[in-house]
Amino acid sequence: MGIECLFMHPNRVIFGQGSVEQLGDCVKDFSGTNAFIVTDKGISGLDIFDNVLSALENSGIKYIVYNEVDANPTDKQVEKAAAIYKKENADVIVAVGGGSSIDTAKSLGVLLENGGAIRDWEGIDLFKKKTPPTIAIPTTAGTGSEVTPYSVITNTAENYKMAVCGWKLIPDVSIVDPVMMASMPPKITAATGMDALSHLIEAVYSQYAMPQTDALAYYGMKLVAKNLKKAVDDGSDMEAREGMAMASLMGGMAMCAGCGAVHALGHQLSTQFGIPHGMAMTIMMPPVIKFNASSAPDQIAEIAVALGEDISGLTKEEACLKAAEAVAKLGKSVGLPSTLTEAGADPNLIAECAKYAEKDGDLPANPVTPTLDEITDLYNQVL
Ligand SMILES: [Fe+2]
Repeated sequence: MGIECLFMHPNRVIFGQGSVEQLGDCVKDFSGTNAFIVTDKGISGLDIFDNVLSALENSGIKYIVYNEVDANPTDKQVEKAAAIYKKENADVIVAVGGGSSIDTAKSLGVLLENGGAIRDWEGIDLFKKKTPPTIAIPTTAGTGSEVTPYSVITNTAENYKMAVCGWKLIPDVSIVDPVMMASMPPKITAATGMDALSHLIEAVYSQYAMPQTDALAYYGMKLVAKNLKKAVDDGSDMEAREGMAMASLMGGMAMCAGCGAVHALGHQLSTQFGIPHGMAMTIMMPPVIKFNASSAPDQIAEIAVALGEDISGLTKEEACLKAAEAVAKLGKSVGLPSTLTEAGADPNLIAECAKYAEKDGDLPANPVTPTLDEITDLYNQVL
C-alpha cells in the first residue's frame, strides 16, 4: 500500500427488492417525525415515488417534498432547500434519485449544520459538524453517491462545479432497492452501468487502492459483466437490476480509493460538449486502460479475468489488452458510442479539454500521471 488509505462507508446499507418499505422505521430510528424529501420532478412523477411516500405514511411520518433538483444541481437549489427545511422544521433528510438529488441532499446537510454558503465548504473535510440524519435511496445504478463522501454542486457565481467532500456527509443509511431502479430507460441503464464499471476499474489501479476496495471492485466487475446487458435488454429482469444495484453500491464503496485518468479526461467531455458522464467514461476507459497497462499490469490483467476473459497462455501485456477490449465490447453491446465524434464532441476543442484534464483533481490517483501530450493522444485515439 505505501500511501495512507482511508476506507469509509455508511453506518447501514439496506439492500434488496422492496427494502424501501423500511424507510419509515429508519426515520423513526433517528426519532424523526418530519422527513424532508430531496428529489427531482421526473422522479416525483413516477409510480415508484409512491413507494417512498407510502412507506412514510404507513409509519405515521409527515413529509415535505422538495423536487427542484436539476441534472446539474446548484448552490442556489441547496440554499432554497435549506430555507424550506428550516421553515418546515424537518428533522431527517431523505434523498430519492440519481447522483444529483443525493449530492444536493448531502450539501443541504452540510449547510444546515455548518451555516455559511456552500462554497465555504468546497474542499476536503473543511466543515466540522456532521449532517442531520440522512437516508439515501438511489434510483439509478451507477454513481454510487449513496455511499460516497462526495457532493458536486455548481457554483453559480463563477460557473464551475465545486466538490464538497468529507466522511461526515456520507449518508447514515442507504436503502438500495432494485425496484426503485426498474423504470430507468435502457440508455440511462447502459450509461450509468458503465459509470459503475469505471469506478470499479479505476479503484483497482488507483495509487490509493487498498485490499478492502480491491475486494469490492473485482466482485463488482463480475456483476457488471454478468448483468449490465441483461438489465439494458430487459428492464424488468429484476435479477439483473439487483446485480447492477449491487455493482453500483460496490463501486461507490470502492471509490474511497479515488478515481483516475478515465474520470479526469471524461469530466472535460461532459463540461465542453454535454456528453453524459457514463457515456464519457465508456469512451475513455479503453485507451486509459491500455495507457496504464505498463504501470499496473497485474491489476489490469485481473480486470480481464473479472470481466470473463480467458487470459491463460497470454503475456501480461496481452492480458491487459484483453481487459481494454472487453470494456469496449461491453460498451458496444449496450449501444453506447465508442468515439468522441459519435458522441458529439468537436475535434477542434480537444486541445482545450486536454488542458483542463491535466489539472483535474482525479488525475493524481492514476497509477502514472500522463503529460499534456499523452492526454491529447488519449483523446485522439478515440476521436
Ligand atoms: Fe463516475
